[in-house]
Amino acid sequence: MIIPFEEEYRKKFYELENQIFESNFWSEGKMLRTFEEKFGEYVKLGARAVSNGGSGLAAILSYINVEGKDVIVPDNTFWADAQAVKYAGGNVIFADCNKEDLCLSLEDLKRKVTDNTKAVIVVHIGGHIAFQIEEIAAFCKEKGIYLVEDCAHVHGAWWNGKTGGHYGFAGAYSFYATKTMPLGDGGMVVSKDQDFLRWVEEFRNYGKEVVDGHVYYRMQNGFNFRLNEFSAALGIVQLERLPMILEWKRELAGKYDRIFQNRVMLPEGMISGYYKYIVFDTPLKEETGQVFGSGDLGHRIAETEADVPNSIWVTEHHKCAPIYFGWEHAGKSEDELRVLLMR
Ligand SMILES: Cc1ncc(COP(=O)(O)O)c(C=O)c1O
Repeated sequence: MIIPFEEEYRKKFYELENQIFESNFWSEGKMLRTFEEKFGEYVKLGARAVSNGGSGLAAILSYINVEGKDVIVPDNTFWADAQAVKYAGGNVIFADCNKEDLCLSLEDLKRKVTDNTKAVIVVHIGGHIAFQIEEIAAFCKEKGIYLVEDCAHVHGAWWNGKTGGHYGFAGAYSFYATKTMPLGDGGMVVSKDQDFLRWVEEFRNYGKEVVDGHVYYRMQNGFNFRLNEFSAALGIVQLERLPMILEWKRELAGKYDRIFQNRVMLPEGMISGYYKYIVFDTPLKEETGQVFGSGDLGHRIAETEADVPNSIWVTEHHKCAPIYFGWEHAGKSEDELRVLLMR
């Protein structure tokens, strides 16, 4: 595996690196602000960069203040969600997913909500937006519960003019190495709430606030969740590359849609970012494993009991066809791909 990165974009990155050396800012400089601005424009929300997706979730939950409160988290997700809840002092309550989209089930959410529920995390798993997101958002609003969106997989997905982070109080994107827009490490919190966004600027920097040259520490829980200038510069370039990466993925997905019958079926109008291409009960010769496998289920890691039959079913019945950017066989015809992939 090499890191696919075209010469044209390498040059852009090197140019930005030079600008950093000349700026004398290793961190908290122009690249960070530019990356935040451009990402915010792309997702049509306010955006603040953080060190990774998990720290973004921790920041959101710390702001909401879930201490001693229950936070409903999908069982079928990455462990980062439960860990972020614990970081912020909340109790993790695992909920089930739907078989259709692998994302949080509205029906199970309704069963798990109590008077002590302060927040819910929806994870847009696999690159599409959770199919029940509008209903979940309406339910959370009615109950006065914060909706937090884990946007680690959702880059490039749109549904009726909205992307990840539009439905809840805030969302956290990840730019980890395997993601659709990788920086190696990095994250972005997005929100419409300006107070929260201002708060993140201090929280990600040990709670440090500078007023007229004087430094104040008013937060007890701030930590180092900063993103440095070099990662931010790469973020600017990666954001420029993102439409090309998405187009590449969608072209391959178009062929897969004709090859695979039993797969995640997107609802009308949904545009997926195809972080993964998920098929059910189809033996594959070439595959990239599972989005989350049986050992990833939250209740298993936490060694606790949870009534989550669909989450268990999903781990036993799905696989992913290769759709990572740069996969060498992506240019093959539909017939060639069928022979290459199907048993
Ligand atoms: C669903 C999900 N949430 C959160 C994360 C955490 O992101 P990061 O590794 O950037 O902390 C990941 C993966 O890394 C993920 O897959």
